[in-house]
Amino acid sequence: MHSTVTLKEHDESRQGEAFTAFATSLQPHKKSFYIESYGCAMNFADSEVVASILNVNGFGAVKEPEFADLILINTCSIREKAEATVRKRLTEFRKIKKQRPGLIVGVLGCMAERLKGVFIEEEKLVDIVVGPDAYRSLPGLIEEASGGQKGVNVLLSRDETYADIAPVRLNSNAVTAFVSIMRGCNNMCSFCVVPFTRGRERSRPPASIVAECEALFADGFKEVTLLGQNVDSYHWMAPVLSGNQENTIVTFAGLMERVAQISPLLRVRFSTSHPKDITDDVLLIIKKYDNICNYIHLPVQSGSSRVLQLMNRTYSREWYLKKVDRIREIIPDCGLSTDMITGFCTETEEDHQASLSLFEYCKFDLAYLYYYSERPGTLAARRFEDDIPLAIKKRRLQELVDLYRQHSLRTMQKEVGKTFRVLAEGFSKKSDDFLQGRNDQNKVVIFAKENFVKGDYVNIKITHCTAGTLFGDAVQTF
Ligand code: SAM
Ligand code: SF4
Ligand code: F3S
Repeated sequence: MHSTVTLKEHDESRQGEAFTAFATSLQPHKKSFYIESYGCAMNFADSEVVASILNVNGFGAVKEPEFADLILINTCSIREKAEATVRKRLTEFRKIKKQRPGLIVGVLGCMAERLKGVFIEEEKLVDIVVGPDAYRSLPGLIEEASGGQKGVNVLLSRDETYADIAPVRLNSNAVTAFVSIMRGCNNMCSFCVVPFTRGRERSRPPASIVAECEALFADGFKEVTLLGQNVDSYHWMAPVLSGNQENTIVTFAGLMERVAQISPLLRVRFSTSHPKDITDDVLLIIKKYDNICNYIHLPVQSGSSRVLQLMNRTYSREWYLKKVDRIREIIPDCGLSTDMITGFCTETEEDHQASLSLFEYCKFDLAYLYYYSERPGTLAARRFEDDIPLAIKKRRLQELVDLYRQHSLRTMQKEVGKTFRVLAEGFSKKSDDFLQGRNDQNKVVIFAKENFVKGDYVNIKITHCTAGTLFGDAVQTF
């Protein structure tokens, strides 16, 4: 997907699609690179860091792999299917390399980290393999690969946050941008490969985050999405410089407040929240600032406390439901989305019914639904048998999808007649006579272009809807 639509985290629909890098070069470049990204928003944000590192080392981005001296593929390992997509894409790059033997092909990201040197053995065309914490070593590895030396750097770091690197915005709509606030994850959910591919959790210094957001706003951007695998555990302690100084601790709530104060015209979003960590402080900051969007992505993974325990999520169904109640108490109109996995090890029909009933209760605005895919090396792969047949995993998934669709249509219908402040992000996919944007709750809204341009905030009165989109007309006031 390379449209102007904001890329949603781990949207399954994106997994087979390429995010094609085309950065506007600031100066003439001696060489060219092409990059494709798969997986979550953090991977997409990383590709922008990679583009920046390459830019200062004489590489400019091109839109087509056929014209590049260097092809990079930034990969995802979250499910087997994500890895299969990358392997398939590599076979296409093989054809280009056959015609141009000097071409360098590099694999970046989570799959690089998981498979390490094995990648070079398995995929003969790959010249370099670089893990998520080793992008600063890319120029050196490319240099060596030009001399015929294949290279691997998959060292994970305890402190790398790329805080000093100004990302080059790839394929940007010039309105919305991702900003990484932390890296890694310490949670060890039993199904998940991320702690192994991204390493230990670490928070980026708040000053560099605020500076990046200020620079984006000065460049005309109107929305930032603060990114981390678990933003609620963002934690920064300023170094104590003298004996009588107190420690200054910045939490996620404090960080959001600093970003929100940049300007009321800069919208703030964030992802992902963890049910065990989200605090009232965060909810109260969302409520306090109009420019912090009323939208929370709160992955639940299962509606059964027994399965949640096996997943090592460290909360129960009841805990999750209480969090949802609390969100709706403090921010009554909050948009809420989730992730759910069907067919995790030992999941019974009763557990599955518990997932369906949790959906009934929560009535999510958006849901990312997956069937369980065993990942080598994870706690679940080591401890439990992947014992639910694929057909049952898929049937349960379909039941959740059907229920979610019923809910989403009904929730959207309730919005008809209301007026929302929409940030225009670009033309609608179907026609340049219409603009597309999102409201505070992250719902997509389409309206007639008239004299509006992307980057405008427009009050839209909703006239009709589908299960996924609201349509409306511009009005003067609410
Ligand atoms: N950090 C987020 C959290 O704690 O919920 C999730 C990040 S993960 C990149 C995105 C989603 O992929 C997860 O929420 C989960 O639903 C799904 N996922 C992760 N591992 C999976 C697996 N082995 N099989 C199926 N889905 C998986
Ligand atoms: Fe994976 Fe759990 Fe970390 Fe999310 S919180 S990235 S699901 S280990
Ligand atoms: Fe993201 Fe996939 Fe890695 S979801 S953190 S790119 S495994």
